[in-house]
Amino acid sequence: MTHDEALEALDRIVNRGGDDVLQEAVDVLHDSFDDYSWVGIYLVEGDDLVLGPWKGPEATEHVRIPVGQGICGAAAATGRTEVVDDVDDDSRYLACFPSTRSEIVVPIAYEGRVVGEFDIDSDRPAAFGDDDRAFLERVALLVSPHCATR
Ligand code: SME
Repeated sequence: MTHDEALEALDRIVNRGGDDVLQEAVDVLHDSFDDYSWVGIYLVEGDDLVLGPWKGPEATEHVRIPVGQGICGAAAATGRTEVVDDVDDDSRYLACFPSTRSEIVVPIAYEGRVVGEFDIDSDRPAAFGDDDRAFLERVALLVSPHCATR
């Protein structure tokens, strides 16, 4: 699937609404791109990130991450996307899955505040390029109202 096709599918999901928008968005991302090995949404609760919907081969032990810790916490603290080409080279990295080689974390902001983030792990090194970043930042904008109201 192309990024544009995925955006159309995600747009339909968001416009349809309902209780499962975030899970459906996660499922589309995971199922549409081979390199997106594990896809999750963390939601901001106070000073923590709490794991929401996710899809992948395994559950993560990191269901609550303090803002500021790990790559997830860094992206939440700054509001900027983090792209890590080689997780073994990043001292901030909190390991979840032995197979993970690269990671992207994209903050989801609503009304100027970070309310959540996408965390995507890949089993391929340097799997996330500028096109993935631009695509996922658009997806974050699309789903942001659904993160803020949870
Ligand atoms: N690797 C993340 C932790 C979350 S797991 O990848 C699902 C981090 O360094 O913040």
